[in-house]
Amino acid sequence: MRISVIGCGYLGAVHAAAMADLGHEVIAVDVDAAKVDALAQGKPPFFEPGLPEILSSSLASGRLRFTTDISEVAGASLHFIAVGTPQSENSGAADLRFVHAVIDALIPHLGSADVIVGKSTVPVGTAEALSHRLLAAGSSATLAWNPEFLREGFAIKDTLSPDRLVFGFGEGPGALQARSALRDVYSQAIASGTPVVETDLATAELVKTAANAFLATKISFINAMSEIAEVTGANVTELADAIGYDARIGRKFLNAGVGFGGGCLPKDIRAFSARAQELGLGSSVAFLDEVDAINLRQRERVIARVIADAGGDAAGLRVAVLGLAFKPHSDDVRDSPALDVAQGLLAAGADVVAYDPQAHGPALLRLPKLNLADTLEQVLVGADIAVLVTEWPEFVALDPRVAGDLMAHKRIVDARNVLDADTWRAAGFHYSSLGRP
Ligand code: UDX
Repeated sequence: MRISVIGCGYLGAVHAAAMADLGHEVIAVDVDAAKVDALAQGKPPFFEPGLPEILSSSLASGRLRFTTDISEVAGASLHFIAVGTPQSENSGAADLRFVHAVIDALIPHLGSADVIVGKSTVPVGTAEALSHRLLAAGSSATLAWNPEFLREGFAIKDTLSPDRLVFGFGEGPGALQARSALRDVYSQAIASGTPVVETDLATAELVKTAANAFLATKISFINAMSEIAEVTGANVTELADAIGYDARIGRKFLNAGVGFGGGCLPKDIRAFSARAQELGLGSSVAFLDEVDAINLRQRERVIARVIADAGGDAAGLRVAVLGLAFKPHSDDVRDSPALDVAQGLLAAGADVVAYDPQAHGPALLRLPKLNLADTLEQVLVGADIAVLVTEWPEFVALDPRVAGDLMAHKRIVDARNVLDADTWRAAGFHYSSLGRP
C-alpha cells in the first residue's frame, strides 16, 4: 500500500520504518529539516534498539522516503498522523496544536477516497472535532483512529507484533473503506493472530488513555505500598511477588522504586484529568491526581534517602548518579525520575556526577551544568554514595567488590529495587532501597 506518516518522532519514525519493512511504500513527513535529513541517512535522532537496522534496509529498498514537503503525501491514500501531543505549558491539558496543524496542512492534498488514521494520543472527543474540521473544509476524506501502544526500547517489536490492534471508526460513509484499508495495512499481524478491537472513535481514543492511566495507577499503587512497607518493616518486593501470583492482579508493573516518567504516562494522566474536568467529570478520575502525586513523591524520597544515608549533609557530598534516562534501553529524559533526582541533589548542594549509557546528550540539553562520567567505573571513583535510578543491565550486574574499591565510602541507594541486598551488604556496603528493610 502507499501510505504517508506525518510526524517523525519516536512514534512516527518507528511506524514509518516498520510499515516499509512490511512491504508498504511509505512517505514520511516532518517539519524539522534536521530530523528528516538524519532519518534519510538512516540515523535516528534518538536511541531505539533495532531502529537503525530496519531504517537502513527500508531506505535501501526504496520503499521509505523522508521529506519536509507535505505535498508529497498526494501519492498515498492512507495517512497516519503521528505528531506529538505534549503537555500544555500552563496546565495539565494536552496541547493539540500539532494535530490540528497537520489536518490543515493535509487537506489540500487529500483525494476524496483517502483515509486519515490518527495514532497520536489525544483527549477523547478530538477525533470527532477533527472530522468536523475536514467536513467544514469540504474534504470527503475519512478519519479513523488507531492508537499506538509501543513501549520505548521495544518499539519495533511492539509495532510489528502488537498485543492488540484497536480501530475506531466514525459513522460516515467512509467507515467501511477505512476498515478495509486498516485490515490491509496490518494484514500480516492480523494473519498471525493479533486480536483486533473495532469500535467507535471515542472508545479508540479512550482505550489508549485508559491503558496508560491503569499502568500509572499500578505503579503508584505499589509505590504507596512501599511507603507503608518502609514504616512497618515489611518488604514491598515480596509483597508484589505475593499479590502478583493472583492472575487477576499480575506481577507486571508492580516494581516499586523511583516511579514512572517518560513522554507518555505522566503527561497522559494529566491530560486525562484535564479532559475529565472539561467534561464535568473531574471526580471520576480525581484518583489520577493522587497517582501523579505519589509518583512525584518518590523522587523526593530518593533524594532525602541519599542525603540521610550519607550522614544528613548534602553540601559537598560526592554522589554518583547511575542512570539519567526514564528507563533502560532508551535515551529519553522527558519527565525522567533519574534526571530529577540528579537535579534535586545538585540543588541541595551535592557534588553530583552522573553516568548513563545512552542519555548524556539529551540530559545535558535539560541540565547543562551536570557533570558526566564516561564510564560506570569513572562515575564511582571517589563517590561518598551511589544511587541507582535507571535499571540499565550494566548497573544491575555491577560487582559490589569492584564498586567498593572505587568509591570513597561504601554506600548505595537502590532506587529501582534491582540489586541483591545480601550480596551488597556482604561486600561491606551500607545498602538501602525503597520499601525493603
Ligand atoms: C508507556 C506504555 O507502556 C506504552 O504502552 C505507551 O504506548 C507509552 O507509554 P513507555 O513510556 O515507553 O511506554 O514506558 P514503560 O515501559 O511503560 O515504562 C514507563 C515508566 O514506568 C518508566 O519510567 C518505568 O521505569 C516505570 N515503571 C514501569 C516502574 O516504575 N515500575 C514498573 O513496575 C514498571
